[in-house]
Amino acid sequence: MQEKKVVGAVAPSSRFLRKKMLAKIDFSKDLVIVEYGPGTGVFTEEIIKKMSPGSRLYVFELNEVFYDSLSTKIKDPRVKIFHDSAEKSEFYLNKDNYHHADFVLSSLPLAVIPKTVKDEILKVSEKILADQGMYVQFQYSLNAKKMLKNHFRNMNIAFTPINVPPAFVYYCSNR
Ligand SMILES: C[S@@+](CC[C@H](N)C(=O)[O-])C[C@H]1O[C@@H](n2cnc3c(N)ncnc32)[C@H](O)[C@@H]1O
Repeated sequence: MQEKKVVGAVAPSSRFLRKKMLAKIDFSKDLVIVEYGPGTGVFTEEIIKKMSPGSRLYVFELNEVFYDSLSTKIKDPRVKIFHDSAEKSEFYLNKDNYHHADFVLSSLPLAVIPKTVKDEILKVSEKILADQGMYVQFQYSLNAKKMLKNHFRNMNIAFTPINVPPAFVYYCSNR
């Protein structure tokens, strides 16, 4: 029960949602990409397929089973997977001498994460985002709108009906 609460999903995301999550990324560039909550890796594997040789991907997954499975499956020198919480992204980027991310892709179930934790995650995400960067978040409702607006000046929202459940994708930036 507790596990279900933290995972916040009944099934992995559809390829339609995956397409929307990655739609704004220009993979021809060398990018630093951060992913929160990869789960079984539906977005992660597609990012790896598309990212340039000079790009880097930092992945944060709290669930031990997902973390173990992903780190066994993915052996790519461009990718680092951490069994740690999303708000630690800045710490691990800085450790590798990266100070900004071009994209932060979040599947975190904001609706069930305690307020203090999600505030910290969004604060850190805002801080690490490059000036021209984008924070992309999917949710199953529009309830995250107000909270995301507290951290990002600009927001566009897309809807994906073909997902279980149907999902909203928030594209946020401070451009
Ligand atoms: C809704 S699932 C999404 C899985 C996958 N990205 C997909 O779309 O199918 C959310 C994921 O976030 C992870 N998670 C929850 N809180 C987290 C946190 N604070 N830091 C990192 N991962 C977290 C959960 O373990 C779960 O794998």
